[in-house]
Amino acid sequence: FVSLFEEQRLKLKDLCLLLYFYIISSCHATKPNMLNVHLVPHTHDDVGWLKTVDQYFYGDRNDIQHAGVQYILDSVVDQLLKNPDRRFIYVETAFFYRWWKQQSSSMQQTVKKLVNEGRLEFVNGGWCMSDEATTHYSAVIDQMTMGLRFLNETFGPCGRPRVAWHIDPFGHAREHASMFAQMGYDGFFFGRLDYQDRARRRRDKEQELLWRASDSLTPPMADLFTGILPNGYNPPEGFCWDQSCDDPPIRDDPDLEDYNVDDVVRRFLAIANSQAIVYKTDHIIMTMGSDFQYENANLWYKNLDKLIHYVNALQANGSKVNVLYSTPSCYLQELHRANLTWALKMDDFFPYADDAHDFWTGYFTSRPALKRYERISNSNLQVTCNQLEVLSGPASRKGPFGEGDMVLILVNLSLSEKAMAVAQHHDAVSGTEKQHVANDYARRLAHGWQRCQVLVSNSLAALSGSSAERMYCDNLNISVCPLTESSKKFSVNVYNPLARPVTWPVRLPVNGTAYLVSDANGKSVDCQLVFQVQAPPLGFTTYSVSLLQDGPPPASTQHRTPTAIQNKFLRVTFDPDTGLLSSLSNLETKQTIKLTQNFYWLVYNASDGNNLQSDQPSGAYIFRPNSSTPFLISKTAKTESIQTSGVQEVRQWFAPWVSQVVRLYTDSKALELEWTVGPVPIDDDLGKEVITRLDTSIKTSQYFYTDSNGREMLQRKTDFRPTWNLRQSEPIAGNYYPINSRAFIKDDVDQLTVVTDRSQGGGSIHNGSLEIMLHRRLLYDDVRGVGEPLNETSNIFPKGLVVRGRLLLSLDRPPSAADAHRPLAQEVVLQPLLTFTDGDLHPNTQLEFSGLQAALPPAVHLLTLTQWDKDSVLLRLEHQFQSWESKLNSQPVTVNLQKLFSTLEVLGVSELNLSANQWKDEMTRFHWTPMTGTGHLNLFIRFYYISS
Ligand SMILES: *[C@@H]1O[C@H](CO)[C@@H](O)[C@H](O)[C@H]1NC(C)=O
Ligand SMILES: *[C@@H]1O[C@H](CO)[C@@H](O)[C@H](O)[C@H]1NC(C)=O
Ligand SMILES: *[C@@H]1O[C@H](CO)[C@@H](O)[C@H](O)[C@H]1NC(C)=O
Ligand SMILES: *[C@@H]1O[C@H](CO)[C@@H](O)[C@H](O)[C@H]1NC(C)=O
Ligand SMILES: *[C@@H]1O[C@H](CO)[C@@H](O)[C@H](O)[C@H]1NC(C)=O
Ligand SMILES: [Zn+2]
Repeated sequence: FVSLFEEQRLKLKDLCLLLYFYIISSCHATKPNMLNVHLVPHTHDDVGWLKTVDQYFYGDRNDIQHAGVQYILDSVVDQLLKNPDRRFIYVETAFFYRWWKQQSSSMQQTVKKLVNEGRLEFVNGGWCMSDEATTHYSAVIDQMTMGLRFLNETFGPCGRPRVAWHIDPFGHAREHASMFAQMGYDGFFFGRLDYQDRARRRRDKEQELLWRASDSLTPPMADLFTGILPNGYNPPEGFCWDQSCDDPPIRDDPDLEDYNVDDVVRRFLAIANSQAIVYKTDHIIMTMGSDFQYENANLWYKNLDKLIHYVNALQANGSKVNVLYSTPSCYLQELHRANLTWALKMDDFFPYADDAHDFWTGYFTSRPALKRYERISNSNLQVTCNQLEVLSGPASRKGPFGEGDMVLILVNLSLSEKAMAVAQHHDAVSGTEKQHVANDYARRLAHGWQRCQVLVSNSLAALSGSSAERMYCDNLNISVCPLTESSKKFSVNVYNPLARPVTWPVRLPVNGTAYLVSDANGKSVDCQLVFQVQAPPLGFTTYSVSLLQDGPPPASTQHRTPTAIQNKFLRVTFDPDTGLLSSLSNLETKQTIKLTQNFYWLVYNASDGNNLQSDQPSGAYIFRPNSSTPFLISKTAKTESIQTSGVQEVRQWFAPWVSQVVRLYTDSKALELEWTVGPVPIDDDLGKEVITRLDTSIKTSQYFYTDSNGREMLQRKTDFRPTWNLRQSEPIAGNYYPINSRAFIKDDVDQLTVVTDRSQGGGSIHNGSLEIMLHRRLLYDDVRGVGEPLNETSNIFPKGLVVRGRLLLSLDRPPSAADAHRPLAQEVVLQPLLTFTDGDLHPNTQLEFSGLQAALPPAVHLLTLTQWDKDSVLLRLEHQFQSWESKLNSQPVTVNLQKLFSTLEVLGVSELNLSANQWKDEMTRFHWTPMTGTGHLNLFIRFYYISS
């Protein structure tokens, strides 16, 4: 094997490498000087879409869609055993895990053998195939870690996927490619990209390329070989032999009617030859399968066996086409051996359009409430729950409040982690599933949260020494908390999941005229409506609240709205005639911009004349407004204002279904815009997509910036794509990009950053302007399969969903703006967890705790702290600044692990890859050569993957 891998650093002493070569050697031989056609049998199994994940697994509700994953795996294993030449790949560990648990040990042995022999190969291998536009990197890393851990612990190194496989997601994020590179994948394949981009790449043979997925990591750390599949992820036309397809089988008995071998072979060769023209090497790949196929795998394999036989038989007569069963890693190996140079790509694959009026940019915002719920769940379930388990040790798993939800053995994965992992699927947080499936995802998250609360209660009991009952107020977003509304004395425990001290405003619904709030040292805290809490890094503090005076809360409403509100950092002015924002100033940097903000809606009206071009309506996936001028909801806002010592608010009403609170906290450097939108009216028979638009005096000359999965920032330009000459056919939808946690516009002197509290779509259609889509309610299906209009209602909101969220605005000087907006975005992603206890605390209660000996430096984010097994924890420290972003914070940082934690003693450290399924020193990836120069990039160590 050595000769196959000259350029790899061979360390044959490593068992896993030996096994890896073994897998590769299980690839079928290819033929030089021939066109080698790699047939990849596969199934695409959505972890929820038209049916829930469990309905798909069992094959329940086949009236909605015929699909049953358990039968697929049963049938495929059976068919693989019938012929050792056959191959299959499997992708979604959420399904494979369900199936595996139900198999007998002899079946498990059989499957292990298939895996060891490379006949069944895992690709991608995360819990699901995550969405790329609406996910946050931390949740993606977690779900990949979970799936890959299961594969490693079940199959060892032979179960480790070498190839990332995102055949269905609707556009591709650069940060995903960066993560895959750091997870050790050798290559990445996907199916969907913009139709103009594909046409150009076919012409220039650039459907296989090298993606340089970070502008801060030193190449090749974030380089990922990327292949675009020829036909989405479907088989070539005429060659679908699943039970769900109608293509003719191979009829090869000349004594029977309708013998068609010559016809099938001729059609196949024609397709293979035309495909070969648009790719670079003597190898091409064909995906033989599609959604939920192979339930009766015999149909597929019987015909594929024959196809291979008859096409290759022609070689005796001089045919130069060689067909073989293959897998993505076997195909990739051949591309690597070709030793070519590959076009380099540095931007991403958003937005995705499959035709001139069909931009998949609506799902960036679809189901805004689910998107927010997923984001808070990431903070509560994935981060806080995991951290507290580590910090309080075994006490968290079993304590006064019952048995917590933790993980120690994989076969018993925790509910909350599974719920979060399935929520990352490309039809989950993306908002592109049927309503009943969206409800199922939310139910899973809620169930996970119940289990997690037990663990949090146990942990806080252990760390504070008080086993007083803890209460949770999950409805603070709608000002509901039965305890604080009725109790005369209670305490609030504030847990901070960030590794630096943070100050947050806390607002609680109460029922009294005056309260006394005191901090952990007994010092009283200024409070009226709202108070500031300050919590130590990775730890908690406790505030006590007591009622001083009964009676209705004081009426602090002023009738005249001030023309300006300000604190020591910011000043905001309002137009006295319209009630709208008119300017924003940063008082520290002495900068002021003109800023107006208003709400609009866009619409697709089926009877509109725009149908001449296309009758594509907006739907769960697609954004297709029928005019580039949005409807203004109201020219003016009715306003009211409230001023207390802690906060100044201007409340604006635009319509009965659109309102906003402009809020400036005393100690905050950001302006909060809390919007409430809904129920979106549909009595005019028009669906509506509601946006807010910030129009400023900043001279943007078409540029704006959006984050990639919440991590690195990317430059965007209106009506422009960095890698091809765009013919823009949708002036709004074609300029929308995903915003996961922040976006900004800037010129030489001013930068306005908007931090969002969930993933949303947005763009900068006009110079100086930034718009964000907040909510959508639509009356038509957009014909991409979901088969329902996006028309959300709920028990509480039968007339249409009401959604509330926050945008945080900060104004800074461009060179150092990241110093402000990185931490700000993080405080929104990882929120403090509030728990409440009624009455007096026991005097021995420990009121303050920090899990760290000292706060981490601002450049370093504690991304993961989670119990891995009995004796070790998984720790991820992330350098969170891009190389060009900050004079101060882009520098390399050293962290002393020995002096990091207050409650843990570090006995040893080993470094892993990003997904924690491979030791760092065993990580060897294929090396690929880019066509152009390699650029100049600073050296940064971004991630440390450490388990101690
Ligand atoms: C190869 O060519 C010979 C002579 O033309 C023919 O008899 C035979 O059937 C061909 N073989 C195949 C597999 O087509
Ligand atoms: C790959 O190509 C480079 C440059 O053309 C050449 O120097 C090198 O020897 C080749 N490697 C192999 C293994 O053929
Ligand atoms: C609010 O306080 C009043 C008495 O001041 C009491 O009658 C009422 O029940 C309280 N409301 C709640 C929700 O506890
Ligand atoms: C949208 O939802 C409302 C409220 O449930 C319902 O009355 C209306 O028929 C729905 N419209 C469509 C097109 O689904
Ligand atoms: C993979 O699984 C094996 C078996 O459980 C374990 O010993 C090994 O440490 C795992 N590898 C990594 C990198 O965690
Ligand atoms: Zn899918």
